[in-house]
Amino acid sequence: LAEDGYRLWQRYEQVQDAARLQAYRQALNELVVQGNSPTLTVAQQELQTGLSSLLGQPLAAVKSPTKQNILVAGTPSGSALVKELATAARLKPLGEEGYLLLTTAKDGKQYTVIAANTDIGVLYGSFHFLRLLQTQQDIGKLSLASSPKIKHRVLNHWDNLDRTVERGYSGFSLWDWHRLPGYIDQRYLDYARANASVGINGTVLTNVNANALVLTQDYLKKVAALADAFRPYGLKVYLTARFSAPIEIGGLKTADPLDPQVQAWWKQKADEIYTLIPDFGGFLVKANSEGQPGPQNYGRTHADGANMLADAVAPHKGIVMWRAFVYSEDEPDDRAKQAYNEFKPLDGQFRDNVLVQVKNGAIDFQPREPFHPLFGAMPKTPLMLELQITQEYLGQGTTLAYLSPMYKETLASDTYAKGKGTTVAKVVDGSVDKHRLTGIAGVANIGTDRNWTGHQFGQANWYSFGRLAWDHALSPEAIADEWIKMTFTGEQEFVAPVKNMMMNSHEAVVNYMTPLGLHHIMGWSHHYGPGPWIKDKHRADWTSVYYHRADEKGIGFDRTASGSNAVNQYFPPVAKEFGSLKRCPEKYLLWFHHVDWDHQVNSGRTLWNELCYRYSSGVDSVRQMQKTWDSLEGMVDRERFSHVKQFLAIQEQEAAWWRDACLLYFQTFSKRPIPQDLEKPA
Ligand code: GCU
Repeated sequence: LAEDGYRLWQRYEQVQDAARLQAYRQALNELVVQGNSPTLTVAQQELQTGLSSLLGQPLAAVKSPTKQNILVAGTPSGSALVKELATAARLKPLGEEGYLLLTTAKDGKQYTVIAANTDIGVLYGSFHFLRLLQTQQDIGKLSLASSPKIKHRVLNHWDNLDRTVERGYSGFSLWDWHRLPGYIDQRYLDYARANASVGINGTVLTNVNANALVLTQDYLKKVAALADAFRPYGLKVYLTARFSAPIEIGGLKTADPLDPQVQAWWKQKADEIYTLIPDFGGFLVKANSEGQPGPQNYGRTHADGANMLADAVAPHKGIVMWRAFVYSEDEPDDRAKQAYNEFKPLDGQFRDNVLVQVKNGAIDFQPREPFHPLFGAMPKTPLMLELQITQEYLGQGTTLAYLSPMYKETLASDTYAKGKGTTVAKVVDGSVDKHRLTGIAGVANIGTDRNWTGHQFGQANWYSFGRLAWDHALSPEAIADEWIKMTFTGEQEFVAPVKNMMMNSHEAVVNYMTPLGLHHIMGWSHHYGPGPWIKDKHRADWTSVYYHRADEKGIGFDRTASGSNAVNQYFPPVAKEFGSLKRCPEKYLLWFHHVDWDHQVNSGRTLWNELCYRYSSGVDSVRQMQKTWDSLEGMVDRERFSHVKQFLAIQEQEAAWWRDACLLYFQTFSKRPIPQDLEKPA
């Protein structure tokens, strides 16, 4: 049997711990799922096959209890038993997606209850319950309630209709447009199951660099077939809307959002979509950015554009996710400032069903970025956080970088918008400004590779995105812990070192690529490998020298008052911190400051020596990961062991390449020696 990672974290292997196994077998004698719906059917299937496999014995599903120890799943409206066992008072606050896991007894019978207000809540609760067994937790006295903090938890696929994937490193697009709508690949269902298991409830099928063709009848029928396949799993379908579609496929002369004919075209298009897909989620739009058409082509604002689409989908309860990733063709004094400058003045002008989707940082998914200054700056507009799961700037398909700590760093950043504690997470979950419409997006790393994500450890980033989207209070350690146990094994001798390796992996990549706040010094256009020397492109902000600004004196982008003053876009306590050479967190130092080569940093080293040290320690960390992985041989199947081993060897070469290329290049400015004691041989 191929152990190629296809089953993700849903392997459901028999519980190893004998005492636990016995307790589980005793508590789970039969399964009762009352009620009838496609969602309950998949919940029942998942519980029955998952538990039979985890317990190593078949679990019977019946309509009413015949045994003493019963697992029951359902809603109070669909199941009399659930209504009796789960108190309404506990269920009510859990909303449309939350659930309750409960151990209770009645009439001499022992019950384990998975209860929710809705069928989809039951499915989410079922996956949580399975996770408890997969990670060998005690299920003896359950009393656990969970509901998502953010409403729309959405994957963004940058998939083209020809099945290539922009910034995709795991094969081609999952969507087999040619065979749709007639053929529903089992893979679509497995994809939906995986998403439901972590609470992802939306998927944008197409690239933000959009193709209007997907909005034509033929394609919409294919989209509808996917939506039908995903529906039982609570996964809504969205599409990207190309702003010029009324011209390209509608035969109009303009796409001006204030033109009544254009407005009518989009309304009619929305009606057509909703006829085919009654629960269509809405549109994601990239406009007036990197050559994409948009309202500014007609002298209109982003709000004009977003509102036109919002009005078209509003009667059907659709939403518009309008992206704030914009920067000008004309050489700007600082690309980092543009989104804020363009969007902040529009606060309050968007319709109720519009979210503005903001990347975690102001440049572009760099290995590390300080949080985007728009968070907290648009209190009247719900802001959706966009994270990148695919590793465009993080070594792409062959790099082991566990991104949960990076996501968490953004979520936990304090904007000070309403005083201390106004974190990005609280802006995004709506609690700061009392927004009910909330969202979070992750640019997917999923493709046709057998293991879905190219790198076996890329699965952990998909998984973490979902877990954090549901509950941003979770810790990256806890998420890694569950993922490892479900994906590989629960043996501590394996879990502890792998967790340690994962937890250090992102920092290692930052160190050997862009330490101390350096950014955007990758190879031109493809963003793979080092390219700090890139200059003389037709746009200054598409060169590397624009970002690192190395000269004989020092290195870094001065974004303080003496430079572009981008720091001023942050609320005063943050602006002061980032703007002070002394107080600026070292991880953002060269993001905000141009620093002398001989400036002394926290370690006591000069900046130049620290740079050398960081590059070199990044490489050392990868070598450490290799040693760790090698020491685990035999604890995981040969196929996945060898896959990771080979990728780590590639990563080690790339890390050394980054270190050597960057240090030798920057040395042409610093004219200082590379400290020899850092040059540890492999
Ligand atoms: C980056 C990426 C592009 C993508 C863009 C976006 O610039 O390199 O491929 O289209 O982000 O997010 O719109």
